[in-house]
Amino acid sequence: MTLAIRNALIFDGTGSEPSVGDVLIDADRIGAVGGVGPADEEIDGTGLAVAPGFIDVHTHDDFAALFHRDMTFKSRGGVTTCIVGNCGFGAAPWDAASVMAQSIHPKAEMPRYDGYAGYLAALEANPPGVNIGVLAGHGTIRMAVMGTERRAPTDVEMAEMHEIVVEALDAGVLGLSTGLIYEPGRHAQTEEIIELTSALQGTTALYASHMRNEAEDLLAAVRETIRIGAETGVPVQISHHKATGRANWGLVRESLALIDDARASGQVVNADQYPYTAGSTLLRAVMQNKMFDDEDGADGVVVASCAARPEWEGRSIADLAAEWEVEPVAAARRVVDEDGSTFVVIHSMCEPDVELVMAHPSTMVGSDGLPTLDARPHPRLYNTFARVLGLYSRERGVLSMAEAVRRMTGYSADTFGLVDRGYVRRGGFADLVVFDPAGVIDQGTFDDPNQYPIGIQHVFVNGVEVVRDDVPTGALPGRALRRVDT
Ligand code: ZN
Ligand code: CU
Repeated sequence: MTLAIRNALIFDGTGSEPSVGDVLIDADRIGAVGGVGPADEEIDGTGLAVAPGFIDVHTHDDFAALFHRDMTFKSRGGVTTCIVGNCGFGAAPWDAASVMAQSIHPKAEMPRYDGYAGYLAALEANPPGVNIGVLAGHGTIRMAVMGTERRAPTDVEMAEMHEIVVEALDAGVLGLSTGLIYEPGRHAQTEEIIELTSALQGTTALYASHMRNEAEDLLAAVRETIRIGAETGVPVQISHHKATGRANWGLVRESLALIDDARASGQVVNADQYPYTAGSTLLRAVMQNKMFDDEDGADGVVVASCAARPEWEGRSIADLAAEWEVEPVAAARRVVDEDGSTFVVIHSMCEPDVELVMAHPSTMVGSDGLPTLDARPHPRLYNTFARVLGLYSRERGVLSMAEAVRRMTGYSADTFGLVDRGYVRRGGFADLVVFDPAGVIDQGTFDDPNQYPIGIQHVFVNGVEVVRDDVPTGALPGRALRRVDT
């Protein structure tokens, strides 16, 4: 079975300027690029672009891949591969992971599996619509071994955590992530992380971190991350690079310089970013890290999902505080007490910083979307890639479109070790997206976020069409992507 996409503007994922031609899909691979002979099926790509399927390097879709297998909230945005397990939240060990699964999917029943090998096997037994690459989550591992203890691990605990990391690596994970603002990852000292990350030596796996601080101590946090990479020789990935809080705007200029210095000395340091001036996280973590304490801050903190009290979704903490006639902090505490898994959207960044980080050569695109599909998730969940292409590239010229595509395809595949993906290249896997370069744009607002972007017509995963003429096909051709050490 072959399919030819004819006469489309081909962005090949390398960042070089696109050219018009044909792409042939032959079973699960790209059979030819350029001039292509007859095929069983044809798509007229005139006026459209074809690019490698987008790789979302920062997701929390570990369990959505099991519970919402169609994954249309991703594929309709052009995403063909999700990297799960970010911010220290991993899919195993099962008991600790199932607690986290509950916070995003309160109604779902978690299938039992054993370790990362079991998780990857579960994906293969019931494949989702997109490919899944997996990071092991330090927070989940620490929870399994030490609960929420606020201290360094004993030698025995260290050995146990190490053993879980090795199980994950043997199963084929692409790296280890930390979430150093979250419970219980925030109780880990640098030495603990260095010790566990050293298990990655000799593999192609990377260390990805939601750093200890993204506000006034951003630079210290970047230094810690770079140190972990330097001392272990493991490539590092700074998650959702940003400076949060008005007083800290502009600090990314210096954090980018730290990345430049480390790269100049030969270290592999990269970052990912979502293209918005608002973030989203657990309200509990916001409280624990004192990320707001005044009226001003509370205004920009809006309930995104609260399964226990869905009527609060869409309301700001300032607004709830006014209604309840209490201080914002007390209002936030009341929301957390009611539902400890409440997620909020936080308006806390500035546009110049977003653009500066995006333009920097270390940055790739990752949504950090939280798949709370029944609530009001941050619109980045669906729209991240279309927004980078439409708003930041086409409209604002922060990046050329060819370079924007590279930051969501080839660069990401190379960084995360995804073999034969990320490029429109003969012999590679046929993960492809056909989009309208003149019209692609994000949709959805913070008030009405559950919207798909426009201008993304066709999406193929391993040669199988998962979106056709804007409509999901229901196909489930995704694969579990295991690390290949070279
Ligand atoms: Zn994070
Ligand atoms: Cu995250």
